[in-house]
Amino acid sequence: MSADVLLRLDGISQQYGRGETAITALSGVDLTLHDGELIAIMGASGSGKSTLLTIAGGLTVPTSGEVVVEGEWLSTLSTTAIAALRRRTLGFVFQDFNLVPALTAVENVSLPLELDGWKRRKARSAALDALRTVELDDRADYFPDDLSGGQQQRVAIARAVVGTRRIVLADEPTGALDSTTGEVVLRMLRRRVDAGAGGILVTHDARHAAWADRIVFLRDGRIVDESVATGVDTLLSGTRP
Ligand SMILES: Nc1ncnc2c1ncn2[C@@H]1O[C@H](COP(=O)(O)OP(=O)(O)O)[C@@H](O)[C@H]1O
Ligand SMILES: [Mg+2]
Repeated sequence: MSADVLLRLDGISQQYGRGETAITALSGVDLTLHDGELIAIMGASGSGKSTLLTIAGGLTVPTSGEVVVEGEWLSTLSTTAIAALRRRTLGFVFQDFNLVPALTAVENVSLPLELDGWKRRKARSAALDALRTVELDDRADYFPDDLSGGQQQRVAIARAVVGTRRIVLADEPTGALDSTTGEVVLRMLRRRVDAGAGGILVTHDARHAAWADRIVFLRDGRIVDESVATGVDTLLSGTRP
């Protein structure tokens, strides 16, 4: 694939705690995310999925291994520089929506830009562009409480890709939604990735994983299998091995 590499994990291991009670959450994980690519991560509870996302997003410094975000080696950066890089390059979408309740949809989306020093009007305009890509520009001035769960997740996707941000890290984003609403959210995520972004999607729903270009299976902190997602229909018809 000749597309830009957005994110690379190289030999990532993560231990929590020390000595006899230490838990190995990840062991030697390698993963590369390209522009235009959506990768689904599947695996049992405790297999290390959330740990992988927080390391990929620079929220957790791994015990060993290297994280490269848009060409920047995180190990060479200060905590402040990592925070700034995070604001400019990536966004998280969590199961529980995590929008700021006191801010409107457009204010939630423009927040990372304003934190990064953008002028308010320019930030608002970029936020409206991002909301348009998830078909929510008509709800820009609504507060999160006045939006449905699916709409809140679409706002979170817009926030993840606003301005120059191109990496979406989504941890069970459809976990609190009914399956029809979940499908809409994933269709929007897929479309946004196709338009120029990359995403890592943690899910335990195979139908949702089928929106991805490939599926990576984690077991006890190791990648045990990878498969190319060939689309919802093939997956559901059971013709895949
Ligand atoms: N902050 C933490 N401190 C100690 N152990 C943790 C912490 N976060 C996760 N773990 C442990 O690491 C392992 C992987 O957890 P996690 O990444 O949350 O898995 P998943 O998201 O697949 O359920 C689990 O055994 C979990 O209990
Ligand atoms: Mg998790």
